This record gives sequence, structure tokens and C-alpha cells, in this order.
Amino acid sequence: MEFSQESIFTEARSHKQFDGQCLTAEELQSIYDLAKFAPTANNSCPLRIVFTNTPDSMERLASCALDFNQEKTRSAGTAAILAYDLDFYTQFPKLAPHMKQPPSHASWSDGQLERYALANSNLQVGFFIAAARALGFDCGPMGGFDSQAVETTFFDNPRWRFNCVVLLGKGDPSRLHPRAARLTFDEACRIT
Ligand SMILES: Cc1cc2nc3c(=O)[nH]c(=O)nc-3n(C[C@H](O)[C@H](O)[C@H](O)COP(=O)(O)O)c2cc1C
Repeated sequence: MEFSQESIFTEARSHKQFDGQCLTAEELQSIYDLAKFAPTANNSCPLRIVFTNTPDSMERLASCALDFNQEKTRSAGTAAILAYDLDFYTQFPKLAPHMKQPPSHASWSDGQLERYALANSNLQVGFFIAAARALGFDCGPMGGFDSQAVETTFFDNPRWRFNCVVLLGKGDPSRLHPRAARLTFDEACRIT
């Protein structure tokens, strides 16, 4: 596998228009098999993914997008709907066998579970994007969807919650705005 700082960070962009090509099931598995190594608290791994990879499922996803994201979604042949499972801790016997069972999470409120699962799935989302880029795919991360519509249309588990969508494939660099600024080291960091 060949990748570089440029392909994952400095030259990689958040793409808005794609060429409509689908990824193969093997390519989707390869992305997951890298992304799954993201660190999470207690190795909780709350991320769940539904891939949309047919014209029909992409159209159903586009119809859940807010207006400004519909055309972008329709341009892609493949997307990952990234979710988090509020019942993530039920996997602890496998994922964190050193913990006492049942874990304290079992008595948490849904609000506590939600904060923990969202924070940790966000780490996994970042790794998912880096993994896809490392394998040569452009990404279009987007949060602008009707969450309830996505959950009703695509999730068969009522405890999964929508996080974001990542369009996957070959992006069209001619449709990008110039890269926006980032905070400098001095603006964002302190050394003490
Ligand atoms: C969680 C998340 C949600 C986003 N939501 C949207 C969105 O709804 N629509 C959109 O066009 N871009 C969306 N973006 C893309 C961001 O605007 C983009 O990542 C940011 O401006 C940096 O762009 P760059 O990676 O090309 O430098 C989202 C990105 C992330 C990570």
C-alpha cells in the first residue's frame, strides 16, 4: 500500500462532486479493515456503517439529504452512512474482556451513552476518512441530512443513531473552492 502525507493530509480535500463510480465490496471491506484500528475509550468501537452502493440506495440517501447536499450525494456511486450504537457496551465481553461484566455503562442514561458513543464514533469517522484516502479514494464528509429520515430508511436497529455521511470514489477537483485556512500552531496550541 502506497500513501503519503500529501494523499491523506496536505493535498486531500473534502470533495463535493464525484464521478458516479461504485466501489467494490472488497474495497469497502479494505477501508473498514484499516479504519477499525482507531483508538476508542475502553475499545468501545461504537461506529456502525451502512454502505449505499447501488443507484437505488444512493437515490434513497439523496432524498434524505438537506437541499444543499442532494446534488452532491447524487453525483456519487457509493457512500458510507456512519452511525453509532447506543448499546455499544453489549460488545464489551469481546472488545474489553478485562472489564467487569456487566459494565457500568449498562446503568447509564441514554444521554450519557449518546455523548460517549458520539465522541468515540467521531474518532472512528476521522480514521475512516484517513483509511479511505490511504487506499486511494476521495471522501466527501457531510452532516447535512435529515437524521430521522436516514435512521428510518437505512437502520434496522433502533439503537443506531446517524452521525454523518462520507461520499466515496473519485472526486472532481475542478469543482472545489480554494482550500480554506487552518488555525496556525500558535493560534491552536500551547506548549507548557
Ligand atoms: C462532520 C462533517 C460534516 C460536514 N458537513 C458538510 C455538509 O453537510 N455539506 C458539505 O458540503 N460539506 C460538509 N462538510 C465538509 C467540510 O465543510 C470540509 O471538511 C471543510 O470545509 C474542510 O474542507 P477541506 O477538507 O477541503 O479542506 C462536513 C465535514 C465534516 C467532517
